Formats: sequence, structure tokens, C-alpha cells
Amino acid sequence: MGTEFPDGFTWGVATSAYQIEGGRYQDGKGESIWDRFADTGRMPSSGDVACDHFHRWREDIALMAELGVTAYGFSTAWTRIIPDGYGDVNQAGLDFYGRLVDELLRNGIAPWLTLYHWDLPQALEDRGGWLNRETVDHFVRYADVVSRALGDRVKHWITHNEPWVAAHLGYGIGVFAPGISDFGSALTAGHHLLLSHGRAVPAIRSNSSAAQLGIALDCRPSRPASDDPEDVATNRVHDGFRNRWFFDPVFGKGYPADVTALCDERQVFKDAGLPFLRAGDLDEIAEPVDFLGLNYYTSVEIRAGDEDGMEVVLPAGPDQPAGYTEMGWEITPEALTSYLGHLHSEYAPAAIVITENGASYSAGPASDGVVRDLKRIDYLDDHIRAAGEALDAGVPVAGYFVWSFLDNLEWVTGYGQRFGLVWVDYATGQRIPKESYHWYRRVIAEGLPDQTSLL
Ligand code: FCB
Repeated sequence: MGTEFPDGFTWGVATSAYQIEGGRYQDGKGESIWDRFADTGRMPSSGDVACDHFHRWREDIALMAELGVTAYGFSTAWTRIIPDGYGDVNQAGLDFYGRLVDELLRNGIAPWLTLYHWDLPQALEDRGGWLNRETVDHFVRYADVVSRALGDRVKHWITHNEPWVAAHLGYGIGVFAPGISDFGSALTAGHHLLLSHGRAVPAIRSNSSAAQLGIALDCRPSRPASDDPEDVATNRVHDGFRNRWFFDPVFGKGYPADVTALCDERQVFKDAGLPFLRAGDLDEIAEPVDFLGLNYYTSVEIRAGDEDGMEVVLPAGPDQPAGYTEMGWEITPEALTSYLGHLHSEYAPAAIVITENGASYSAGPASDGVVRDLKRIDYLDDHIRAAGEALDAGVPVAGYFVWSFLDNLEWVTGYGQRFGLVWVDYATGQRIPKESYHWYRRVIAEGLPDQTSLL
């Protein structure tokens, strides 16, 4: 018998603003760090047009309605709403999201709004970005502005998406915007991201009293390559920098002591300790949330000598060995089950929502126009089952969002990596629901089949 997902379980799809919207110069939008990153040749393609969702949003919502999802996870672009991040509010930008939210609600789809999916206003980056503590205040004001305008209709809020990525890929190794490479800066940026989360939560609650609030943390569960004590120790360090550094403070445990000791030992900062940490910060970061958002794609094996927590698995395109997606990510659904169990026992969040899970496969329309993305179906089937196993074991898994609704701009890897349930023809903007879309529609309507075996 497969898992029965309870009534009221949230079935969703997710996207983010920069990856789908386009409309870069529309209605007074300001420049973000990703616009700048693209303009300065750090990406193969820009999000200037992307999926042109800025113009096609009605059509996109109609496709979601047909899919039968109960929720849509999307992000608002800070630069549409406050173009420079700190100055005047741009009403036209707020109105765009107001129309989107209304149309979702008309279709019975709950909007799950993420405030920050990495697209910091460039004008704030010019003042130091997430390295500048003042950015925390600007973020809280932005959260206040958006929740004042939409809090009557939006009942699910996520402050940040994947702060590890924003901090470490953006400020630690510089492969993502804004392109800064300094480990101490990654820790500083990460702290300010977390602090802005903790401070935004009460601001949103005061504007939207019945709202459910959370943060979406990414994770890279890891396992030591062997029982060799050195592999085991390195794995612990990896887990510390990559996972515990974010989960621990959000759930009131502060920054992990073994990892801060390592920072001292390695002299990440000239003087010992964490110079960005001020009295009271950890209490603010630990502001209670209603759910933990978990973004899960893969897990990794760690051996002695592996760089601490900084593994970036670069995409190697369509010729991956069996067991890997086209991002070069290993397919490990069993690690989702065990990680959910671990989060439940370690942090006991009231609910865990899988806010992103999905796979990149480039299968496109065959001559009959059908997109037979069977590998994606297999991946999703395995992971939904894995989440179901955790649910059966007592973990309060409350929802699941497929990344992504549409093929979209996969950041620095461009448009070649396709995660969508819906194919996008970038030349024409045409949308074609893939076989995985039809499969997911049946899962939502009827539950998982007893067995899915397609390959
Ligand atoms: C996550 C991001 C999302 C997308 C997927 C594949 O890390 O949140 O925007 O890029 O990975």
C-alpha cells in the first residue's frame, strides 16, 4: 500500500520572479543584482524576457488550475515594488502582484509568497548588499510594504529562499550574483539574511494575522564515504557549514559551536568570534515560525579532503550516468526520508513543507508534439513516496511543491536546464504541458498509483 496523503495536504508548484517573469523594464522596475550579473557577462543568458510570465501570467494560472494544484509558490521581485530597495514604493509593481494573487484565488489556488529569491536591488548592493547590516532594515520595510498590500489575501509567507545559496554562492565563491569571493563575507551575508528573516516575521504577522509563516532552507544531507574517522569527521564539518549553520539558529540553537571553533582555528576573521553577531540577534533569528520550508534535490557523499561544505556540483548536461539528473545531481530519495526524520527529531518544527523538489531533464516535444519526460515522472514519484514514508513515520509533512511549474532560467546554467512540468518554447513563448504534468494532475486528484514503473 502506498501512502495516503491526508485531506488538506498542500500540492503545489513553484517558480521564482527572476527565473520566469521577464518584463525587466516594465512599469518602473529597478535593477537587481541578477540584471547586473547578466549585463556584465557572468551568465550565458539574462532573465530580461525569460518565460515572459509578466505578460502571460493569466495563461499560466489557467494551466495551474487545470493541473489541480492547491497552491502556487512564487516570489515577488523587490525591485518591482521598491525599485532601489529603500526609497519610494512603486505602486505599479504592487498592482502586478495584486492581480496575480486575485487571479490565483479566483481559481482556488492558494498563493505562497516568497519575499526574497536572491534578487537584491542593485542600489542596495552598491551600499554593501547583505554585508551591510542596514540591508536588514530595508528588507523588513519591504516585507511590511508587501504584507500591508497583500496580507488580506495571501495567507502563506516565506521570508527567504535558500539563504545558504544567496550567502555562499553569492558572497563566498562568487559564482552567483553579486559575485563576491570571500568566506567571511558569506558568513556575514548569511547572518544578515537570517536576521532579516527573524525580524520580518513579526512585521508580516502584524499585517496578516491569520498568516502561516516560514523560511525555505536548502539542504545537502551528506554521508561519510566510509567509517574511516577522517571521512566521518569531514562529513561532520560539511554538515556543519552546509546545513546546521542555518537550521540551528532558525530553531533557537544558535550557531553550531564546533563550526564556530573551526572558524576561529582557521582565522576566518582576524579576531576570534563572529564580528557580525550582536547581542540579541540569535533570539531574533529564532522567532517562531509556523512551518519549515525544505528545498530538497540531492545528497552527497563526503570523504576526507573534500572542501568543507562548499561543494558545487556543476552541471554536465544531458549525458549523465544513470542515477543522476542533468544538473549532475545524484538521485537519492531515501535521503529525503531520513533527512525529514532528522529535522523532526532535531528541531521539531510544527510542520515541514517541501517547498522545492524536482529534476532537470531536457526531453522536449517529439514529432507528435508530446513531451515524454518519463525520467522526471520517475524522480517525482520516488520523492513523493519518500516524503510519504516520512509522513507515515510521524513527521508532520504538510505539503509538497514541484520545482518547477515551467521550464525557466536556471541561473548561471541558462535555459538549457529544464525543470518544468510545462515545456516552454523560448522562441515563441508557447507552453506545452509535459507528460509529467498529466501524471502530477492524476497524483493530486487520485493519489499516488500503487506502483509507478516507467523506465
Ligand atoms: C534551487 C533554487 C531554484 C532552482 C532550483 C533548481 O536551489 O531555489 O531557484 O534554481 O534550485
